Formats: sequence, structure tokens, C-alpha cells
Amino acid sequence: MTATQPAQRDWQALEERYYQHTFARLPVTFERGEGVRLYSASGDVYLDLVAGIAVNVLGHCHPAVVEAIREQAGKLIHISNLYINERQVELAEELYNLSGMRSFFSNSGAEANEGAIKLARKYGRLHRNGAYEIISMDRSFHGRTLATTSATGQKKYQDTWLPLADGFKQVPFNDLDALKAAVTDKTAGILIEAVQGEGGIHPVTPDYWQGLRAFCDANDLVLIADEVQAGVGRTGKFFSWENFGAKPDIITMAKGLAGGVPIGAMLAAPRVDIFEPGDHGTTFGGNPIACAAAVATIRTIMGQGLLAQVIETGAYLQGKLKELQAKYPFITDVRGLGLMQAFDLASETAPQIAKIAFDHKVLITNAGTKTIRLIPPLIVTKADIDEAAGMLDNALATVEG
Ligand SMILES: Cc1ncc(COP(=O)(O)O)c(C=O)c1O
Repeated sequence: MTATQPAQRDWQALEERYYQHTFARLPVTFERGEGVRLYSASGDVYLDLVAGIAVNVLGHCHPAVVEAIREQAGKLIHISNLYINERQVELAEELYNLSGMRSFFSNSGAEANEGAIKLARKYGRLHRNGAYEIISMDRSFHGRTLATTSATGQKKYQDTWLPLADGFKQVPFNDLDALKAAVTDKTAGILIEAVQGEGGIHPVTPDYWQGLRAFCDANDLVLIADEVQAGVGRTGKFFSWENFGAKPDIITMAKGLAGGVPIGAMLAAPRVDIFEPGDHGTTFGGNPIACAAAVATIRTIMGQGLLAQVIETGAYLQGKLKELQAKYPFITDVRGLGLMQAFDLASETAPQIAKIAFDHKVLITNAGTKTIRLIPPLIVTKADIDEAAGMLDNALATVEG
């Protein structure tokens, strides 16, 4: 080392000392990313099939996103929602053209769901005699705020925080009779992921989805689709519910929407679009930089035929996973839609398998302890998938089944 070179900092030790111990992190510090690859501070290259947990839909540092952020940062970084911001209106217009719904922007998926819950409660207050309760699904995930934790159908996320917020209950997924039995005069709305993400990549059946829509119509309930993980093209449709044939009343989005910049969105169909000034708000939500990045992300996805590509590469990835299943008996199921794929394991080894894959320089993540999730950037190519499948094969060969 020459006298002018700064000493290498030990990021892992520093993180341990300065950052709250909230995450069970893998031992790597990433410095740079490009496309489907991440580059570590120690010079290793990783193939990224996690994409920031379904965030980096255009891969790392896509030129369209980088350029939109750069250009906007030179013009206007933040103004208050007291004023009109051009990028925010442009993004709302893009989403309106895709959904027929008007937008409210926030900063995360949990916040988008908070807005949806509040809107459904307002609707229930006005149209269902003060109904306020939200019914969500077993195995669901909706966020880490207290209300969204209360809506999340997984005990492991709830038990430490009891008592939960009032007005939430869960029913089995894909079971219309169970849902109908749970609805009371207190129910305002149903909150559901059309494809459950954290719960292990489980899609609704078209019959269930359409039955749910009809039941909500018949009872004036608000149907909220949480598209935070499955939206923005991941399943080969812009919204994952489009795979199942009926439109929700409210759509929540976040993760991939701005290609890596924090954002949340809550879209409302005309029937439930009843917020008035003062009902809801945010300081940062709809920030010009996030909106510029989101406009660039959406225009790139829709303008470059990425949805059709996702269907093709998703099927290709699933085929590769099925080949691995044929080879490794401890893989018990392979399933998914588009580039939202998963495989189940015979025992609770998913975190260990994700770690072994990491040691082989391919990033995958678990959903619970028995499922591995693959949610790569939407730009992933068949050649990338071939490479990743080879690396996964090498990793799985070291696993004792
Ligand atoms: C379906 C779903 N909803 C909501 C959330 C919460 O989003 P955020 O972490 O941005 O608050 C997540 C995060 O994983 C999610 O997968």
C-alpha cells in the first residue's frame, strides 16, 4: 500500500458495531452492480437471482434509470406535496394508463398497504355502516408496520408484537367458503396477494379470484390486491392479478416500481377513490427522483417488450429448475409464474441452501425454511439462466439430501 492509498475498512466489523442487529446478513459487502451481476468489495462476482428481493427489475444500474435519476437530480430533488411535481403526475398517468386507477405515492410497500387499509376503512365507514375490519390470508406478507404486521398471516412476524392492531383477521388462501364464513357486518375489505411472495410463491386459482371479485361486488367489500412483490411485470403481466381475470378495487405497489429507488403506490378505482384533502399524506412520497426513476422503469418495461420476454425466460428458468428436481430428490416441488419461481425442499434447509449457493457465487433466497425463491431481474437472459443453473447444480451437489 502506498502512503496515499486509504486503508481498507473492515465493513463487516464496522457494521456489527454501528448498525442495529436487525438482519441476518450474508458475509459480503457489495460495491457495484451491472445488469444481473453484483461485484463485491473483495473482487468477487455474483449472479443475482434475488434482485434486491424483487426490486431491481431492470437489473443493477440500468442506463435508463441511472439517466432519469441524474437528470432529475440536477433539476429538482424534493418539493413538498403542497405543490405539483411533474414527474409525479407523469408516473400517475403511466399507472392510470395501465390500470384505469388514480395514484397516491408513498415510500415502501408497507406504507402503500397502510394507505389501502385506511382507504378501505373510510369506504366501510361511509358505505357499510362503519365497517373497518380487513380480512387477509394465511401465509401472506404485507409489511412491518403495526397495521401491516397485523394483516400478515404468519405468526413468526406477529408474536413479539402482541397485542396487534384491532380489526384484522386471516383465513386460508384459495378457500372461498372460509372467506365467506369469516365476513361479518364489520368487514370493510379483503387484502390479498394474487401470488404470495414471502409465503413461498403461491398463486390464487382463477376460480377463486373471480369468485372473490363477485363476492366483494355482491357485498360492497373493497378488494385490495397487494402487488408489492408480484407486480411490475414479474409474472409476465404488468400486474400479477391480470393472470387471473378480474380487477381489484385497490392495488398496492412498491419494490420494482422505481427500479431500485424507494417508492410505494396505492392505486384506487373510481368507486373507492374517496380520499379528500387532509385524509392521508406523506412528506417524501411521490418524490421527483423516485417518480422519474419509476417512469423510466415502466417505459423501459413496456417499450422493450419485456413482459413477453419474462414469460419466455420464466418458462426457461422453470425448465432448468425441473431438471435440477429430477437430479436431486430433496427438491419436492417446482412452481411459479414468469420470473417468480420457487422450489420446495424435503426438510427445513432453505437458509442453508441459499448460503451454499452464495458460496458458489449465485444469489438466491429462501421464503420460509422449506422454499427457495428465484426472483431475478426481468432482463435476465437464457445464457444467464444457463450459467446460474450450472452454479446451482454445483452448489446442490454438495448438499446432503
Ligand atoms: C407482498 C408484499 N407486501 C408488502 C411488503 C412490504 O414492503 P416494504 O418492505 O417495502 O415495506 C412486501 C415486502 O416483502 C411484500 O412482499
